[in-house]
Amino acid sequence: MPRLFCFRLVAEDIFTPTKRINMLNTNHTICDEKTVHLYDRSYSEKYRHFDDTYVGTPDYNHFVPILKELTGSFKRPIKVLEVGCGTGRYFHALQNTVELTGIDIAKPMLELARNPLKAEEVNIPLINLVEGSVFDHDFGNEKFDFIYSIGVVGEHAPFTKEICNKFFDLLNDDGTVYFTIVDLDDRKNLKRRLAETAYPLLPARIKEVLDKRWVSNYMTHNELDKMMRESSFDDYNITNYKAEGGGWTGAHHEVIANKYDTSSRQLFV
Ligand SMILES: C[S@@+](CC[C@H](N)C(=O)[O-])C[C@H]1O[C@@H](n2cnc3c(N)ncnc32)[C@H](O)[C@@H]1O
Repeated sequence: MPRLFCFRLVAEDIFTPTKRINMLNTNHTICDEKTVHLYDRSYSEKYRHFDDTYVGTPDYNHFVPILKELTGSFKRPIKVLEVGCGTGRYFHALQNTVELTGIDIAKPMLELARNPLKAEEVNIPLINLVEGSVFDHDFGNEKFDFIYSIGVVGEHAPFTKEICNKFFDLLNDDGTVYFTIVDLDDRKNLKRRLAETAYPLLPARIKEVLDKRWVSNYMTHNELDKMMRESSFDDYNITNYKAEGGGWTGAHHEVIANKYDTSSRQLFV
């Protein structure tokens, strides 16, 4: 009898594997605290210093044209929001922009954004630099034509359904959002892949340990696609960019999502 019982347990584990709980982090508070701690004065100065050497690298040559193209496609003056603007590395890429709001949780980064990369090419009459977390900040009735965020959500901060729908609500009707998310699959080493394969067969106690260890802001393509499908956005496109050199090493998902009607603006013709 005990043997039979034992067999039943194993068989259950194998044939009805416990589903892994959703390991996406949904709590931004701890992340926000860590970010403020990380981006202190000294780290922020190093970041700003790096901006100058970043120009002309493959990654710079990837992101700058995307921002130029997306903002240039409006053919009219626009209001832009950068989420996690940091030192303002990409301000000079923005076209048609009459007002830019840059929100960042790290004060030292924002202070350096007053003198951003290629400041002489920044052609924006009004720049508002706001210190705060994008999750908590109340933008009131403000709306934007273009929102972008590079290296922030799905990286330092979680990309949640709430923040996705906040982007949607903050956009004007023909608005567009562009953001990056770290590709979780690209970060998995062999050990992690093996553990995932073995996961359904592991005892519940070990599963619990792994579930906790694997909680992450990074996302797989499927997780991101599901999140976007369930969000207020109907029109979105996810691509993948493997950093080629210059900045951070690894792969990002890139999302371009439109609120409603963007038929008047042709992108990437
Ligand atoms: C890797 S840096 C990217 C900065 C800039 N987007 C760039 O590409 O150079 C991440 C930035 O996101 C900011 N950040 C992280 N979490 C945030 C949050 N919840 N709200 C606002 N800013 C945040 C950090 O303070 C930091 O400046």
